Amino acid sequence: MLASLLLFAAAPHGDALVRVQTPTASDAATVHELGLDVWTEVPQGPWLDVRVKQGQWAQLDVTGLDYEVRVPDLGPQVEAERLRLAGPVAHGGEPDPDAFFGDFADLAQIHARIDELAALHPDIATVIETGESLEGRRLPALRVTRAPEGSPTILLDAGQHAREWIGISSATCVADRLVRRADEPEVAPLLAAMQFVIFPVVNPDGYVHSWEVDRLWRKNRRPPDGVDLNRNFPVVFGGPGASDNPMAGNYHGEAAFSEPESAAVRDLAEDLDPLLAVVDVHSYGQLVLYPWGFTLDPAPADDALSTAAQTLSQGLGAAYGTPYEPIPGAGLYPASGNLMDWAYGDLGAYSYVLEMRPASDVEFPLGFVLPPEDIIPVCDELYDGLLALSEQLADTDPPGAGDDGGAWESTSSSGGSTETGQTTIEPPQGTSSSGGIEGTGAGTTSGSTTAAPRGSEGSSTEAQGADSETSADSGCGCTSSAGGTYWALLGLLLFARRTPRRRAVA
Ligand code: ARG
Ligand code: ZN
Repeated sequence: MLASLLLFAAAPHGDALVRVQTPTASDAATVHELGLDVWTEVPQGPWLDVRVKQGQWAQLDVTGLDYEVRVPDLGPQVEAERLRLAGPVAHGGEPDPDAFFGDFADLAQIHARIDELAALHPDIATVIETGESLEGRRLPALRVTRAPEGSPTILLDAGQHAREWIGISSATCVADRLVRRADEPEVAPLLAAMQFVIFPVVNPDGYVHSWEVDRLWRKNRRPPDGVDLNRNFPVVFGGPGASDNPMAGNYHGEAAFSEPESAAVRDLAEDLDPLLAVVDVHSYGQLVLYPWGFTLDPAPADDALSTAAQTLSQGLGAAYGTPYEPIPGAGLYPASGNLMDWAYGDLGAYSYVLEMRPASDVEFPLGFVLPPEDIIPVCDELYDGLLALSEQLADTDPPGAGDDGGAWESTSSSGGSTETGQTTIEPPQGTSSSGGIEGTGAGTTSGSTTAAPRGSEGSSTEAQGADSETSADSGCGCTSSAGGTYWALLGLLLFARRTPRRRAVA
């Protein structure tokens, strides 16, 4: 382990962190459209904190916006972390089992911990191999339960975004706790009634890249510059807040589920039946986001979703009083094609994004580079939040399965719309000024310009859940490449109507 740590390349950051003044909404939109890496999740004033790489200054200057350089070079902070991790790191198991979480763990260590938990406690923990990453790495998840098969399941995933290390470490730590504390009264009844599946590193190639080459890497490693996995899901693929520029931080990829990592999430989640809830862990901003993420329209199950979001938020804050604000995803900025919207919209599950510590207004970031002392406290928060949510949902049905209907309304317009090939969606009103994308390059609206599907990965993307009318094999003649357009048009329809129709999911 130490040997591999010593091989790490030096962090290539001469990047600066800059506060750009954005007095108007259109100024904020301008900054997003530059394709720079906007770090501000929740604006604390008329400005955005933006990472500016060498060679990007001219782009910023051209806008004419005032800015102030807050950190001229992010390199030293990244370097300090690298040096610390290259030294003798306390990841010991005994006698203090929490010692493993005394510092951030690399991919091999995380996977080893997951395997070890299953090996030591086969009665309650099982490894599920969900597939292989683009570069051929494992994608293991850990199922923890004493409940019979077919019991309601909560999926906790992390690490869609490579640099969000705190999410990966805290999710792994939660898996560890569920196993090691299985007999404690706060969790034993939950384990008897439901299943927990923890998928700690959805994007292993990116995670390795963030350790070895670029600490601030976000996307997967699809050439030329990666795909944002959290824009690679089919609800509403290619819509607002997803870019069709392969160099952008929120590039959506060629088609929904074009990436093996998002396809692995799909296959896993579809297999977990009944799927009660999905909690997708990110950083940073201290938020609980609930559907929709792509539109400001309230989701059909808005009441149920927001009530459980409150519970989650209270659980997260229980141990240390850390505020985690519950808010509909698009209330920040729209993000189409994300995992949360798919898990709710297509699978009918309770579905959340957690933005863990630090808060958006942290002085001074590194927002993605937390001190190791935060791992256990954030783990405490995530664990408490998950248990609170589980307790509340234990005896309920997922929102999509009831009258409230979380799923997509399939409409008769779909057949024709798939022929048009390309469309552009306007962002929902009032969101353009509402904030930065958590570290993405852009919040721009993009048309759906999906390319041809890549074999089987792209072929079953249009219809998940019970929305069989839209299924590729339902006779609609849809192809995957048309699917993006289909969803995009469907999104447009929903924007226009402002009130999505309801439809139950089986
Ligand atoms: N910050 C995450 C991302 O950029 C999650 C987005 C959640 N949805 C939203 N509409 N803000 O992928
Ligand atoms: Zn993220």
